Amino acid sequence: MTSRPILYFALGVVACVGVAWALVAVVKDRRGPVTASAPADAVPGEVSVAGAELGGPFTLTDHTGRRVSDTDFRGRFLLIYFGYAYCPDVCPTELQAIARAIDLLGPAADRVVPVFITVDPARDDVAHMAEYVRAFHPRMVGLTGSEAEIAAVAKAYKVYHRKAPGTAPGARDYLVDHTSFIYLVGPDGKVVTLFRGGTAPEAVAAAVRARLG
Ligand code: NI
Repeated sequence: MTSRPILYFALGVVACVGVAWALVAVVKDRRGPVTASAPADAVPGEVSVAGAELGGPFTLTDHTGRRVSDTDFRGRFLLIYFGYAYCPDVCPTELQAIARAIDLLGPAADRVVPVFITVDPARDDVAHMAEYVRAFHPRMVGLTGSEAEIAAVAKAYKVYHRKAPGTAPGARDYLVDHTSFIYLVGPDGKVVTLFRGGTAPEAVAAAVRARLG
């Protein structure tokens, strides 16, 4: 990441963390009774998605320029994070956590694909995504698309995102508010669980390992 002024650093925390709970609220709302709880084997940071309608089909463009759909990933687990490459702090931290979790899984990670989906396609084009994901993990897949494609996948995964208030029209240097969760998607394409921002890579790896069987 290029260095950013301190003010941007501070704003970035707000921009990313400040909305981190929005999706939890949505998930809880759809979960029904408040007695519903996380699975007994849940690791710290894991958020139950039981009863929530999350995820779905998508077709996007990967960081090599290839068009890919959700069905191309069937048979493998995905660790997906939604964010943007210019994010000053939270996105890099979460993507590092995913990369570390992949490494912790060792050979079992062959069945797990780390995926970064941008919510800022205007700036995160294929070339920028290629450069960005390479900085985190050689196996990380970066996905971008048209504004409509990104809006659709974000809606399906209930990812809140918008340019930070006060962004001047036409500005190229802006922050994006967005939810911060790591999604674990199963080999059937269904969302298995979520991890809150800040979940330890060891916990993510343990939760994935438990599902790999
Ligand atoms: Ni971010």
